[in-house]
Amino acid sequence: MSRILLVASESAPFIKTGGLGEVIGSLPKALKAQGEQVAVMIPDYIQIPEEYREKMTLIQELVTPLGWRQQYVGLKKLVHEGITYYFVDNEQYFKRDWLYGQYDDGERFVFFCRAALTALPYLDEFPDVIHCHDWQTAVIPLFLQSFYQDVEGYQDIKTVFTIHNLKFQGVFPRVVGTDLMNLPEDRLNNEGLEFYGKLNFMKAGIVYCDALTTVSPTYAEEIKTPFYGENLHGLIQKYEDKLSGILNGIDPPEKLVKTKAEYRNQLQERLGLPFNSKCPIISMIGRFTAQKGMDLIMRVIDEILLLDVQMVMLGGGEAMYEWMLREVLWHNPSKLRVHTTYEQDLADLIYSASDIYLMPSLYEPCGIGQMIAMQHGAAPVARETGGLKDTVAAYDPETGAGNGFLFSNFNAHELLYTVQNAVSLYYDDPAAWARVVKQAEAADFSWADSAGRYKALYEQLRG
Ligand code: GLC
Repeated sequence: MSRILLVASESAPFIKTGGLGEVIGSLPKALKAQGEQVAVMIPDYIQIPEEYREKMTLIQELVTPLGWRQQYVGLKKLVHEGITYYFVDNEQYFKRDWLYGQYDDGERFVFFCRAALTALPYLDEFPDVIHCHDWQTAVIPLFLQSFYQDVEGYQDIKTVFTIHNLKFQGVFPRVVGTDLMNLPEDRLNNEGLEFYGKLNFMKAGIVYCDALTTVSPTYAEEIKTPFYGENLHGLIQKYEDKLSGILNGIDPPEKLVKTKAEYRNQLQERLGLPFNSKCPIISMIGRFTAQKGMDLIMRVIDEILLLDVQMVMLGGGEAMYEWMLREVLWHNPSKLRVHTTYEQDLADLIYSASDIYLMPSLYEPCGIGQMIAMQHGAAPVARETGGLKDTVAAYDPETGAGNGFLFSNFNAHELLYTVQNAVSLYYDDPAAWARVVKQAEAADFSWADSAGRYKALYEQLRG
């Protein structure tokens, strides 16, 4: 048994903007089931709903160094579904209109990381392992090695750093390292945080962690290459001995109570689409960004809509895609719906009603939508990359094996042909289609196996 502290910038159900928040929301329970003692620490954002906020208790007030300054830290605690959560309060940093994209993000997350370490003695359990996630918490291993090597207890702490998305690295001016982090010169050169004349927090995580992981085995290989490496592939190659890929899991699905056709009609009614119990529903839920393959979709969406299908897109993101979709909608009022405010009950209904789920990602560290869709009896059409490659098995017309449809190149017409193939199978060979759906529903995406891998990693680090 190890005492694990997960430190991250978001966690469901308190605050979540994407997959990271979902993983931090579900991984602790899975680790606990493995016998680990787990706690989670996140910033106390003003956006956390009042229902949770009112249950938090302030357990300690302290100050943490930030360069030459001392900054206030309010340490709050809440036990939720058997897991202990800690919230780092400082309104100057976390009472903002949004979690990220503030002018001083570098300072905000340097503060959060330093505060997390300062707060350790006040937690119920002093951790054996600190498990950090993405750039927002990537400087924790660096701080441990730079400032805490002579501090009783802290010397023994091991660190795991998990990359959920290599694209977002937290790159800030050099003054953040000198003025706010107080780092010695040998941490600020190219062996350390230096990155094209600036400082790169993601780099700190990669260099100073004890174990480095990412969220699928395929992505762990891909990020060593220039195409996926986001200018860090050389560094990742250098540290590949401590790198491994551990696939994310998801919580078990709610049982479906109605038939696909009933859900289809329910969705059509809710979104004002023509009633049709037969035509397949193609869906996509997620951020409308280049990562998610929006460029491929926009290139061939008119041709997809020529098929006898209905298409539903839920998400939001770059305005450019929303405007393009609005134009397509104008020409296809009876076949397409685009919903740009995320509503959980609508997402659930879309998954339940869908037959085909699109995920033509440019890159995909793990991907969660395809797993949820499969559990709801929708077959994914996905690009063979990252976690998509590790979770979707391509349908093989010879043997009938497979639980979805894959294409390999980032090419809009490969996407189109793959969608056309899937729709043909749906109409022309209902028995084969039913088998694909059954195999999709049968895939095991539970956390147990992956949580076991994390546990083994923690144990290995502790020797
Ligand atoms: C990021 C990645 C996504 C992954 C998620 C959780 O959002 O883009 O692929 O599933 O993190 O690890």
